[in-house]
This record gives sequence, structure tokens and C-alpha cells, in this order.
Amino acid sequence: MCRDTEYCDIGVRSLARDCWAAARWLLDRRRRSFKLCRAMTDFKVKGGAALAGKTSVPADKSIGHRAIMAAALAEGTSTIRGFSGAADHLSTLACMQAMGVKARHAGDTLALEGVGFWGLRAPTQPLDCGNSGTTMRLLSGLLAPQDFATTLVGDASLMRRPMRRVVTPLAARGATIRGTVDAKGDLRPPLHIEGLERSQAGARGQLRGGTFELPVSSAQVKSALLWSGLAADGPTCVIEPAPSRDHTERLFRALGFAIDKANPCETRLTPPKTLAYPGFEVMLPGDPSSAAFPIVAALIARAGSVEVSHLCLNPTRVGFVEVLKRMGALLEVRDVRESGGEDVGTLRATASKLVGTRVHGAEIASLIDEIPVLAVAAALAATPTHFEDVAELRHKESDRIATTVAMLEAFGVHCEVRPDGFTVHPAAALRPAEVISHGDHRIAMSGVVLASRTEGASSIRDVACVDTSFPGFAAVASSVGIDIAIC
Ligand code: S3P
Repeated sequence: MCRDTEYCDIGVRSLARDCWAAARWLLDRRRRSFKLCRAMTDFKVKGGAALAGKTSVPADKSIGHRAIMAAALAEGTSTIRGFSGAADHLSTLACMQAMGVKARHAGDTLALEGVGFWGLRAPTQPLDCGNSGTTMRLLSGLLAPQDFATTLVGDASLMRRPMRRVVTPLAARGATIRGTVDAKGDLRPPLHIEGLERSQAGARGQLRGGTFELPVSSAQVKSALLWSGLAADGPTCVIEPAPSRDHTERLFRALGFAIDKANPCETRLTPPKTLAYPGFEVMLPGDPSSAAFPIVAALIARAGSVEVSHLCLNPTRVGFVEVLKRMGALLEVRDVRESGGEDVGTLRATASKLVGTRVHGAEIASLIDEIPVLAVAAALAATPTHFEDVAELRHKESDRIATTVAMLEAFGVHCEVRPDGFTVHPAAALRPAEVISHGDHRIAMSGVVLASRTEGASSIRDVACVDTSFPGFAAVASSVGIDIAIC
């Protein structure tokens, strides 16, 4: 695994050396994450302090995946700045490297030598997407039109996640993808993507254009359709019930592809005449989903203010800011500007008196990853908060309705659970807790935030998963005044 202080270039010339490098990369990753588990099992948090500070958070997870994929398929070298080495990004990077893309990583800069849209090489072993659903679902679309077969696997959590949502629309446009049918009739990984056979004359096979109506809004499925649509025989139109994050659309536009939005729920891609585009430079903004942890910690603290700068403030991502404002949060958004096709700015939170609210409907897609930490804010509100229409949470890195409620209840917060939602009642008194992360980074960090408001010492167990999206989380938490120790 490339760390901030290291420099590595595992690009190699021959196929044999490339396979060896990819295997070493995976082995090294496993060994390091094992050490990480052994050396960094738990967080101990002593709560009750006032918080204050200015900080930044690691690169946006969604934008980072897309930038790595686009750079890998460019013609020439791309430079991605602000790269934080989050485990999910390293999974995407390792997959692209296993298909012949060379990478150099120094400090927070990642340089990728793109191979062109048709320049990827068949990997010699299954592509390991780690814990990253985004890697697996986006790669399904990106690899479907290629002329070689691939198999996508992941860690224990990812191997349990539903994939029919992405396989069905890709199959409808002519892709052949097989998975394992589970007890509920859904499809689980490994995903075997056949690729498209060439004609006898050597012409590439083509996927079909078409209109795809998604039953549930999903940026991952939409993106898989857009990636695969680049090489289709006609336009791709994706219709969603509510707008999902639009990073792929913004990226495609920046690369010169024709993306139209008739409205925020309807995305249309016209396949370009040429799939060639040059290498590019991009600065990744901070991840609002990660910023939500220090921001909510500040809102529920006894006193103080916390500021997070260079943050992605794309409107499809900041639904949690609107919900928190509705709850009475003192939040200030400022210095908003455009950077690399995304809205970027600063978010400041001041300790606030919160009230409950109802979180539901079309706004869910814009805050789906922030619900565990919004539930923490809800525990400190004066009235109950109802989370509705959030059945999707059951299919994230863990069953996040169950694990969020278990985390809250460990602190003495009363919740009511429904199949597609839950209600958080105001905490009469918080007690120090022992929280199990269930290998879910957002549950571990939400536990830390609630522990930071709880008198006494709490333990958050199995926190190696935090590196999935937020390497350096403990240092950031500590820099804003949270009393946190790694043990
Ligand atoms: C993501 C989309 C979201 C989100 C995930 C990242 C993306 O999932 O939960 O963490 O980068 O496209 P959906 O596909 O369900 O929208």
C-alpha cells in the first residue's frame, strides 16, 4: 500500500512482472491491513469537552474513484492531487494496475499513465474490489464493453452486497454478467463479466443504447450505465426516482462527452465519435461525507466551533447540511467556488440546540451515507427524529439500520426500528458505551462522535475499517479537541 511518505511505481514491462507486481500489491495490502488491525484495533474516547479547530478531510471517495478510472482510460499521463490513500481508492487503483495501468504515488499526488479506452489488458486473476461497492459497480459498466473477461471479488462485506441492480440493466443492453443467486433471489459477487466477442473480421462487439428506468436512485448504477454507454450503439438515458450524486456527469462533461440533463432525474449520454481524450490534472476536494463527522461533533458539543475547508459542496451531496439546518444547527457555508468541475468551499459548525425532524423521500439520495451520523445528531435533539424511506441502508457496508440503532442503543439512546426506517428518541442521559463497528467505517466514526459528547470513557471496537474512507481520522478528531486514543 502506498503511504503518504512513500513513493512507489509498480508499473512493469512484461506480463509476468506485471502479474507478480499485482500479486505483491495485494499481498502487501493484506499484510498491512492485518498489521493495522493488530496495531489499531480500538478507539478510546473520553467525552464532554468543548471542541474547536480548523481542519480538512481526505479526498472525496466518489470523485476519487471516478478520477482514477478516467485517468486509467486517458491517452497519456494524468495527475490526481489531494489523493489520500483511502483503502477504497487503493482498491480501484489496484484493479486498474492489474489491467496494465502504471501508477506513481508521491505524497498526496498520484500520477497514472492512461492506456486509452481500449488499452486495458485482461487481468490474470480476479480483480479485488476490497470493501468498495462503488469500485465493483462502476467497473461492471466500464468492463462490460471490453473484449476480455473479468471476475470481480471483494472482502466479506462486499461479497454479501446485492448486485442485481447493476447486472440487470447492463444485461438489458447486451452485457453478459453472472453472479451467485442468494436466498432472496438477488445476485452476489463474484461477478463474472464475459466481455464482448469480436467478429471474425476483428470488429468489436457493441452494447445497445437505450432508456433505463431505475427503481431506486443509485449513482453507482447510473454511472455503470454511463461508462458502458460510452461505447454503445446509441444514446443512453437513465431515469431515477430522485436525483443521485452527479459526479460522473460532471467528469464526463469535463472530458468532452455529451451529457444532457433534461431534469436532475434524467441523464442522457450521446456516445462520442472518438473515445480518446488526453491525460488531465485534477485536485480532489475533501469528502463531505467525512466532514459530517467533525461537523456533527461540533454541533452536539457543549461549546465551540469547527471549520472544514476545501470541501466538495456539490448540491447532490449536501442534503445533510439542509437536514441539520432544519434541526436548528448553526452552520455556515462560505468561500464557495468551482474547482475541477465541482463546487468547493468551507463549512463551519457551532455548538447548537437541535430539534428533531423527518428525513424522507427525495432528499434521501443526497444524504444516504450521512444517516448514521445524522442519527447521532438526532440523539441530542430535543424531540424525536424519523428516518423514512431508507431501506437502502440495509445494503451498505453493513445493515446500517441495524448497526446504527445498535450503536445508539449502546449509549442508552432509545430507537424504534421499521423495515425501511427508524426513529431516534432524544437521549435522556448518555452512558459510556462499547461500540462494535461491524467492519463499517461510518458506524465506527459515528460512534466516536457520540462518545465525544458522553461523559466518561467509551470504546469503539475494530476501527481499522475507518481507513476505507478516512485515513488519519483520529488525528483530525484530536485536532478539533476530541479526546481520542488508538489502542
Ligand atoms: C456512491 C453512491 C452511493 C453511496 C456510495 C458511493 C458513488 O450509493 O452510498 O457510498 O460513488 O456513486 P448509491 O449507488 O446507492 O447511490
